Amino acid sequence: MTTRPRSGRHFLQIPGPTNVPDRILRAMDRPTIDHRGPEFARLAAGILEDLKPVFRTSDPVVIYPSSGTGAWEAALVNTLSPGDPVLMVETGHFATLWCDMARRLGLEVELLPGDWRHGVDPDQIEARMAEDRGHQIKAVCVVHNETSTGVTSRIPEVRKAIDRAGHSALFMVDTISSLASIDYRQDEWGVDVTVGGSQKGLMLPPGLGFNALSGKALAAAKSARLPKSYWDWQPMLSANAKGVFPYTPATNLLYGLRESLSMLQEQGLEQVFGRHARHAEATRRAVRTWGLELLCLDPREYSSSLTAALAPETLDADALRAAILERYDLSLGNGLGKLAGRVFRIGHLGDFNDLMLAGTLSGIEMGLKQLGVPIPASGVAAALDHLSAPERAHQRRASAA
Ligand SMILES: Cc1ncc(COP(=O)(O)O)c(C=O)c1O
Repeated sequence: MTTRPRSGRHFLQIPGPTNVPDRILRAMDRPTIDHRGPEFARLAAGILEDLKPVFRTSDPVVIYPSSGTGAWEAALVNTLSPGDPVLMVETGHFATLWCDMARRLGLEVELLPGDWRHGVDPDQIEARMAEDRGHQIKAVCVVHNETSTGVTSRIPEVRKAIDRAGHSALFMVDTISSLASIDYRQDEWGVDVTVGGSQKGLMLPPGLGFNALSGKALAAAKSARLPKSYWDWQPMLSANAKGVFPYTPATNLLYGLRESLSMLQEQGLEQVFGRHARHAEATRRAVRTWGLELLCLDPREYSSSLTAALAPETLDADALRAAILERYDLSLGNGLGKLAGRVFRIGHLGDFNDLMLAGTLSGIEMGLKQLGVPIPASGVAAALDHLSAPERAHQRRASAA
């Protein structure tokens, strides 16, 4: 709890849940309707259709009243059987949690070790899959954007690696912190199950989980034997075809989702991705100018959703975050798992603009100064230079990148 009286808006710059725009808040502020009535059926049909372009798929998308963790579980229990070998990659905290879940569900997970500073290595995947001549591995599960590290894996290259090995395993991708923030294409990239959540790029409160399902995933579901009930795709798909859900849906969150999809349609996904990339670049410039190190080591894997920065050796990152929250009412993401106390994470995804970024970076710069961290120059000034560069300079930089 903060102790100061507050005025003005809180800055919620954790990498999700993100700031919920007023338009979405207002859309949800309506009476809950009969979820078996005609008005709901129209709402559901529109949403289920309009979600598809966000995943860049023509396949069905199912929506659970759940957090992202539920959508992880749904992906696994619908497609796999007890003891099935699964390949995962330790890109960070969330990949590790997904692996722990898969093991608890009775899957034989092989977790390729990682340093939490790189994404999935396509060559490593190719080598491992080529070794598996009998196609024992039933699924490759990776996190597109590791929210704990600010590293985005190159999913099309991972797909190509699996194809080069000639392997038939399912490919499942967690897009919880990349969906509607970073380019993602389920169909073109040959992904079988995409896992998503409401509380990040979709600008909604937490509470909705998504699975987008390829034909191959639906075929695998026919023989999958892991126990499932609530997460079962089949009753969901059958009910959805009639404009209903197999249980009470999160109706007011669906009002919010309707508005979110309309906002994304109005803005255009390409513009949304471009805005995220531009804010991410400005943030990285600020971090470097403060003399701090980015956690992500490979520029090809920089995340547009968030930036994780290493705190100076002498500073506990959580003490910095606490000071910034207390004095400037700005929430930053903490270091998760083995990064606890060592990094702070700046969320720049969702409903966000240049001045919100300027305010966020100003809060961090003031916090660093307040704690006596020597900063060589103003990171805020470096970010503002980037943000205020003439449009054409941005285009040049983007095409050179
Ligand atoms: C990449 C990623 N995967 C999975 C999760 C888990 O989602 P949830 O906390 O909504 O259950 C998160 C949460 O932040 C995440 O960032």
